[in-house]
Amino acid sequence: MTSNLPIAVISNPHFERLGGRAAVVQLVDAFYRAMDSRDDAQVIRAMHAPDLDQTRAVLVTYLCEWLGGPRDYTRERGAPKLRRRHQHFAIDAAARDAWMACMREALVQTCADENLRTELEAGFRKVADFMRNTDAGGAARPQPRPPHGTAARSAGCAPHLFHPTEHVMSLSIADTAFARLEAEGRLLNSVLKSATHRPGRFGFRGDVALKFQTKLADEARPPETCAEQVIAAANVGEPGLAFFCGFLLSFEYLKLVAEVLGDLLTPTGKYFFFCDNVDLAKRYQIQYGGASFYILPIDEATVYNEMLELLYLEKTELKKLDTAGKTDAVADKAAAFTQTFPSISFEEGLRLMGPVRNPYENRPV
Ligand code: HEM
Repeated sequence: MTSNLPIAVISNPHFERLGGRAAVVQLVDAFYRAMDSRDDAQVIRAMHAPDLDQTRAVLVTYLCEWLGGPRDYTRERGAPKLRRRHQHFAIDAAARDAWMACMREALVQTCADENLRTELEAGFRKVADFMRNTDAGGAARPQPRPPHGTAARSAGCAPHLFHPTEHVMSLSIADTAFARLEAEGRLLNSVLKSATHRPGRFGFRGDVALKFQTKLADEARPPETCAEQVIAAANVGEPGLAFFCGFLLSFEYLKLVAEVLGDLLTPTGKYFFFCDNVDLAKRYQIQYGGASFYILPIDEATVYNEMLELLYLEKTELKKLDTAGKTDAVADKAAAFTQTFPSISFEEGLRLMGPVRNPYENRPV
């Protein structure tokens, strides 16, 4: 069968496998029929406009694009920004499950291919889960329902499209735990600030400003303190950073790290800091700010080299990978890192740390 699809979307065959636009229309009709009739869907039905004609048409256009068909949605309504477009509705786990129940029913009615159904269901589940913006039972953002489409047009976030087979076609920093750091202007000197090759993962490599200098008039000044050579990763839909490692000139800056990263630190995240004034023979673990930090010395090498050594990664094997690929390799291994080091408190760390080197001592003036 010949196709008129643009080359850029041909790699996602689901649109054609489902049967093109006509099949999407059937799916969406069945979906809203289910939403109208199912008792468990009445809470989400009430979020929608009484007349679903326009909603139905928008969902058809969106799903055609999402499945790999014509990109009319983006052309007509701008970047999808789906999470932002749903922010006016309190979507908890029950709302997500109700949405999925309607979609499952619609798929059973309109898609005979069982394999395709399974793939699509998995894709829908991911997106539906990503729409959650409140805990079960919570009234997250009890705002009045905006007129149809207005929430969409005022959304200020970048595109977010999921491929049903888990490949994230486009992932924006605004959809990840890096969003606040980016908005605060802390992500500096980046050599990577993009989706990596792992579906749903966003990576950053560069410096993270921990403390800014007082700004005089319009004069741009470099930050006073940074976590340098940072390699970090966040998974879309997760509120915290999954992985973060970097260089600190002084161990005591861990306090700034905890303040700046704040709610982006999670008990399950893997965080490594190589500190210039930690004894070369020592390695510690510190519970601080609701997270666990590995505190390590830096032996004149780069954070990247130190991480490869710590995680037993072969530098030559990673050589052929691009920056995103290298970040994936390090983040994957870090996630599985289970080694333990003596546990000390932050205060003990302050007592044990050595003098802070003057970072400017060898620089030409
Ligand atoms: C998880 C539970 C979800 C709930 C409770 C929900 C609810 C809503 C509501 C109330 C609207 C506004 C409709 C209107 O204006 O009448 C809407 C719009 C929309 N929803 Fe959902 N939704 C959910 C999940 C999803 C998922 C998983 C997708 C895609 C796979 C999706 C795609 C859309 C689209 C494309 C629009 C129209 C956006 C626009 O105005 O451009 N929704 N949704």
